[in-house]
Amino acid sequence: MSESPENLKEKIQRLKEQRNALIIAHNYQRDEVQEIADMTGDSLELSRKAASTDCDVIVFCGVNFMAESASILSPDKVVLLTAYDAFCPMADMISVGMERELYEAFPGYKEPPRYVYPVKYTLADIKRDYPGVPVVAYVNTTAEVKAESDICCTSANVVEVIESLPDERVICVPDKNLSAWAAKNTKKEIISWDGYCHVHDRIRPSDVEKARKAHPNAILMAHPECRLNILEMADNVASTSGMLKFVAKSSSVEFIVGTEMGLLYRLRKENPDKVFYPLRTDMVCPNMKKTTLESVYASLKEMKHVVKVSSKTRELAWKALNRMLSL
Ligand code: 13P
Ligand code: SF4
Repeated sequence: MSESPENLKEKIQRLKEQRNALIIAHNYQRDEVQEIADMTGDSLELSRKAASTDCDVIVFCGVNFMAESASILSPDKVVLLTAYDAFCPMADMISVGMERELYEAFPGYKEPPRYVYPVKYTLADIKRDYPGVPVVAYVNTTAEVKAESDICCTSANVVEVIESLPDERVICVPDKNLSAWAAKNTKKEIISWDGYCHVHDRIRPSDVEKARKAHPNAILMAHPECRLNILEMADNVASTSGMLKFVAKSSSVEFIVGTEMGLLYRLRKENPDKVFYPLRTDMVCPNMKKTTLESVYASLKEMKHVVKVSSKTRELAWKALNRMLSL
């Protein structure tokens, strides 16, 4: 018989204290996982906050590039990824041209079930084609890609990051939609990679029209991982933390939410007087949902699955992340 959620929550709490662990959950995690987390937020926000605490163990409820970022920013802490095969298909759409370090990171790690993309071109190829052009890597990239990039960006600061560079041309990886949004908001030339997030890229103008018709008084928010034609139809374009801030300040009562369904948990909890409608009910990231209360408990109990970025990659990836954080 499976254990009740209440029992599991108590056991997680006890183990967390014993291990001096911090549980952090991305805004797209299941409601019950967000509920037991010490912190919820976007990936970078979580890694930065975790680095500033004195915990010994970071339990990351998210996907692997996020746990890698936590390891880059907290090299002396043990970082655990709660679902060993939780990955971001978009982050895996670009490689530096070599085996992923992740495979070494988990002892006994086997090739997880993953999407296969016909991407033969690597970061090394694009850098060779555009010598001297700086590479801006979205945080949704592997540690190796960050290590080969000049600077990182988030969906919230991509334009600021691009503007901070002295160059008139920049390479943006891996999200073509975020690149298109950046290109619209800067005069610089953007050379874009062809990746995308399958959760956000599926939104079509007809979805926006349908949602507007159903909720004529609602403000429509869209994440910059959506296509540009969708962003141009939205009232507000923001990252997940940007949406939370925007709603908190807005005097409007109804909102259509154009991002992964998990964000609805916090939006509703933090704004009990406001009403939220998903733009599409299938905006669900399967990898984000791989973490459950059971897997959080198992992670803490068995101290699995350790994610540790090697010191050479870490040093270079840290430089790219830190250059952004210093802006
Ligand atoms: P943010 O939380 O940074 O907006 O990122 C969205 C996302 O898709 C993370 O995987
Ligand atoms: Fe990756 Fe999209 Fe899932 Fe975020 S929502 S982890 S970008 S697939």
